Amino acid sequence: TSMKKTLLTIVAGCALVLSACGGGGADKDTADKEGAKTEAKKVLNVGTEATFAPFEFMDKGEVTGFDVDLLKAVANEAGYDVKIENTGWDAMFAGLQSKQLDIGMAGITITPERVDSYDFSNPYFESKTMIAFKDVKIENAEDLKGKKIGVQNGTTGQFAAEKIVGQNSSDISKYETAALMFQALQSDNVQAAVTDIAVALEYQKNNPDTGIETVTDDKQFEPEYYGIVFPKGSEYVEEFDKALNTVLDNGKYAEIYKKWFDEEPDVEALKK
Ligand code: ARG
Repeated sequence: TSMKKTLLTIVAGCALVLSACGGGGADKDTADKEGAKTEAKKVLNVGTEATFAPFEFMDKGEVTGFDVDLLKAVANEAGYDVKIENTGWDAMFAGLQSKQLDIGMAGITITPERVDSYDFSNPYFESKTMIAFKDVKIENAEDLKGKKIGVQNGTTGQFAAEKIVGQNSSDISKYETAALMFQALQSDNVQAAVTDIAVALEYQKNNPDTGIETVTDDKQFEPEYYGIVFPKGSEYVEEFDKALNTVLDNGKYAEIYKKWFDEEPDVEALKK
């Protein structure tokens, strides 16, 4: 048996040397062709901040939500698979900068500043700012003045709050995740949270006995549009835009929208 072992070792060693020297080149070519035949899709790495229901949140260890379903549908249409990781907000942008991530998908508003640093798909969702508040009276954006305000750091909610109370206001507390912002509101560390409408409404719906109220202000806050984010110069933008268009037109977008929002989307308005 020791003879057998020695033989085996020699055979295994030879195989290793062969493949290491590229001796297995012919085999590898065949394998590649077969891979193409079975259409193994390229996997794109996606970062997100998954405390933003109903767009992205963790459920049994998986990132789930409207954004997840939509991105999978669009990627599939474009011929790609996606691996979505809850990187957090700042790490997502850093990963896009360093091109370690191929995509950022996190209810990310298309803003002129961000467009300077990243590529965006066409809009896939219309949003606006909403104020969620507790134990105070807030009827419009102006009423934010003099209140303790929570925002998710680096989001349009922060920028909206700063527009009203000033950029360096000590009344604004910045949290790393949307969840921490809501927690601060819940535990009375802040009196108001400024965030995206669908997320505020979802939180209110899921926390009915907390006395949280919500209000919007169309005079102060402009409509916003979410886009899929790519590193600057990404090769995928065009394919994803084309695929997004298909998904908008073929009813798949409407199907996903109805699943998460219980109503029909206005697809035509989005395409304008
Ligand atoms: N739409 C806002 C923005 O782009 C907030 C997005 C926050 N997203 C998240 N997954 N926490 O600034």
